[in-house]
Amino acid sequence: MKTLAIIGAQWGDEGKGKITDYLARDADTIVRFQGGNNAGHTIQIGDEVFKLHLLPSGILREGKTAIIGNGVVIDAEGLMEEMRIVEESGRSLDGLRISDRAHIILNYHRKLDGAEERHRGDKSVGTTKRGIGPCYQDKIARSGFRACDLLEEDTLREKAPAVLRMKKELLELMGDSCECTDDMLIERLLGWGDTLGKYICDSSVLVNESIDKGEKVLFEGAQGIMLDIDHGTYPFVTSSNTIGGAICTGAGVGPNRVSTVLGCLKAYTTRVGEGPMPTELCNDLGKYIMKKGGEFGTTTGRGRRCGWLDLVIAKHAVRIGGITSWAITKLDVLNGMETLNVCTHYEVDGERIDYFPASLSKLSRLEPVYVELSGWEDWGDCSEDVAANGYDGLPKELKDYVSFIEKETGRPDDMISIGKRRSETIDRRGDWWA
Ligand code: GDP
Ligand code: IMO
Ligand code: MG
Repeated sequence: MKTLAIIGAQWGDEGKGKITDYLARDADTIVRFQGGNNAGHTIQIGDEVFKLHLLPSGILREGKTAIIGNGVVIDAEGLMEEMRIVEESGRSLDGLRISDRAHIILNYHRKLDGAEERHRGDKSVGTTKRGIGPCYQDKIARSGFRACDLLEEDTLREKAPAVLRMKKELLELMGDSCECTDDMLIERLLGWGDTLGKYICDSSVLVNESIDKGEKVLFEGAQGIMLDIDHGTYPFVTSSNTIGGAICTGAGVGPNRVSTVLGCLKAYTTRVGEGPMPTELCNDLGKYIMKKGGEFGTTTGRGRRCGWLDLVIAKHAVRIGGITSWAITKLDVLNGMETLNVCTHYEVDGERIDYFPASLSKLSRLEPVYVELSGWEDWGDCSEDVAANGYDGLPKELKDYVSFIEKETGRPDDMISIGKRRSETIDRRGDWWA
């Protein structure tokens, strides 16, 4: 069975887009299985930069099937804009497929996202305001519109009045309003159906057939383990499961069909939005990393909070995410630093722990325990040449840093990323599809 998954091991933005694009070279099918356009996956190909939010990163490689799975929530306007950008770059959308079971984000979801955040006051989550949470709420509440509904006027006419009435009442209670009428809503949904209809299908049939035929299937995660609705820093999380297990529900495959889960691990820690982050550096060093790493949100442009690498989180990700090996990214950002701290444990209430507490109160009291490692020289703009020399050619201290991560987490590192480009990558595994 030739399946491979890529998931984020921290709070998102680990470089999943870059790694997915790199590995998509040899894949037949690439599948997004959760999240929505809260995600922002950056891919640099030569001088072209793509920021994909909904389209699977494999869409940029010719001749691939790129699937938006049932677990994704779709902002149709956003998706159509991305499709336009990809087509304008001279690439084809022929391989695009959209699950008929994927839920659709509507304007009232975005309004509700904003209203919820306002009502939370200084306890706001710092969402991307893309309507992600309210859309997933509707899915669970059985009030959502799915991609298949866009193709059935009768279904829409039956369903729209009750749903819209509920949303209007809710928005009014929350101090907002919604001017949309049933007809306006139905017309909009049908219009999206006209454009997207030819891509809509039962994508789980497609994915399973592809696996059965022995084709190579790559699952592309969004966000990261610490933003998982169950296992992240609740309530400062996103509204979907981001762990490896989410592939089963979000792509429609059995748990025995995903054998390799590559955890994307940034060489330091970042997070956008509110919530606990034990190794955050609220000082000049944090600002230096933010600047050097270009740590500004791909979706919202917000500055990302930066801090030392946290291996308690990496171990949590291995345990819960099913991670079998690492792709360690952005090591070049740490170039030229004399020493580097790596968090191996936390201390809380006089106890040393190496798991991530659920309680926000406990999290506010804990102190990270660090091991100091030596930094390595700055190779400047030569990442491409450094990558060409392979793993053995890397500075000894960098390899020690990687070995330390491997030893502490019990997982090997299969890939090193030292720049944005495809050529700034060291593939230590080679045959991913054996
Ligand atoms: P994703 O959401 O996990 O796909 O990550 P983002 O695209 O949101 O953020 C990662 C950022 O780091 C993007 O701007 C990438 O172009 C960039 N990037 C990825 N890998 C590397 C790397 O190894 N080194 C450097 N310097 N930048 C990288
Ligand atoms: P990628 O796939 C980083 C964060 C938001 C906020 C929280 C909830 O690019 O790694 P939401 O809009 O999802 O309800 O916001 O989750 N968040 C991300 N942070 N990368 C992402 O995606 C994110 N998607 C959501 O900033 O804190
Ligand atoms: Mg991102």
